[in-house]
Amino acid sequence: MVLITADTLSRMLHALSTGYPDRALNLIATDAALEDYERAPLTEAIQHSTDPSGQARALGDAFLLLEADQAIVNECYRCAFYTGDYWAELSDNPLYAHFLANRSGAVLDKWIHYFPIYTRHLDRFRNLPVRVLEIGVYRGGGLDMWSRYLGPEAKLVGLDIDDAAVRAVRGKFPVVLGDQEDPEVLRRISEEYGPFDVIIDDGGHTMGQQIVTAETLFPMLVEGGVFIVEDTHTSYWSEFGGALKGDHTFIEWSKNRIDDLHSRHEPRIEPNSVWATEVNGMHIYDSVVVLEKKHRFRPFNEVAGTSSYLFAERFSEVIGNELLATRDAALLERDQLRAKLQGVTDEEVPAVEPSLAPRDSEAEILLLRNELVKTRAQLAELDKQATDVEKELIETRNDLLESWQQVKNMRKTVSWRLTAPLRSVRRARGR
Ligand SMILES: C[S@@+](CC[C@H](N)C(=O)[O-])C[C@H]1O[C@@H](n2cnc3c(N)ncnc32)[C@H](O)[C@@H]1O
Repeated sequence: MVLITADTLSRMLHALSTGYPDRALNLIATDAALEDYERAPLTEAIQHSTDPSGQARALGDAFLLLEADQAIVNECYRCAFYTGDYWAELSDNPLYAHFLANRSGAVLDKWIHYFPIYTRHLDRFRNLPVRVLEIGVYRGGGLDMWSRYLGPEAKLVGLDIDDAAVRAVRGKFPVVLGDQEDPEVLRRISEEYGPFDVIIDDGGHTMGQQIVTAETLFPMLVEGGVFIVEDTHTSYWSEFGGALKGDHTFIEWSKNRIDDLHSRHEPRIEPNSVWATEVNGMHIYDSVVVLEKKHRFRPFNEVAGTSSYLFAERFSEVIGNELLATRDAALLERDQLRAKLQGVTDEEVPAVEPSLAPRDSEAEILLLRNELVKTRAQLAELDKQATDVEKELIETRNDLLESWQQVKNMRKTVSWRLTAPLRSVRRARGR
């Protein structure tokens, strides 16, 4: 554990933020509390960057690797945040504004990166008559903040195991006394004050508490509701029952929920669990997990728009329709001619010697006969055309089906898969 006093650290960070890195380096070189092996990485960290924010960040990274006290690391990262541009992103965040402005309010302790996460998922509930449950009330600072942010129509309730929390809130909000790891307590609070649109779990943060709370309360959330679990980094902290890739951590539990989201694509995943059917989306952030509740229909694949030309079956359908229309027109013409010729036979039209001088009626018969011969020739031609079009139709369909099969085979090849990222980049560029 690195021993460095708060005073030395603040002088170091002040030197960096005011543009005097040499003074910070001098402190590292001379501070008696530091071991020699600790000086090198801290010196390198400051020399690594030229701007105060980068230097403070690198110093924090170096302290982290040296397993310094978390408070030391935290101060370095705070300095990096405020000396860089990051703070500007928060300047119009209403929750952060409340957090900063409410100096005399109840104690409120938040990781800075939570604010944009909250607003991203909770903005849509503002000024609506929503029901909100906060698990873990402490001194009521959170309830105050949510109430001000969500508006006067929101109905808030807290749950805490410590009666000091109930006293601290002084009746401003109902606070139920109970253990979040007890499903019965959770069911009762949901029956009495729910169903909830928003649930924020900021309670004890142990694995059992987080998992039991999610498993009990998520199914009771209203359709369109949101379930937020804070401080999920405890999944990596042994004192909370956490361990990297440990069997029963909340983060590993969340990974299983990601599998459930994909039940449509893997038959071994139960498709009818609440996680497969009611979780519309999950958001995994550093230390925050958000589950959105919305009943899901079974996903299926659909094609529309410009890409449809790629699909030979659809393409052949269009061409086929055109060919069919041509054939049908030819058949219609043929049938009309047939109808005209019906009943007219060779016998009814006596042969006429062309050498004989035709009388009027004979001339008419001659004309009719010639007409009949021409029409028969036309009919034969139309029959031939209809047969040709039919043949062309069959050949085109076969050709298209064959090329579609080739496309499918090509997509199965390794090279097609390997070049997939390239094609998606090209597509993105083409957009
Ligand atoms: C981090 S604080 C909550 C801070 C509060 N949400 C805020 O924003 O100000 C954690 C709270 O969870 C409560 N807590 C711890 N274990 C609990 C449990 N098993 N059930 C309910 N509350 C619990 C603690 O008493 C404490 O008040």
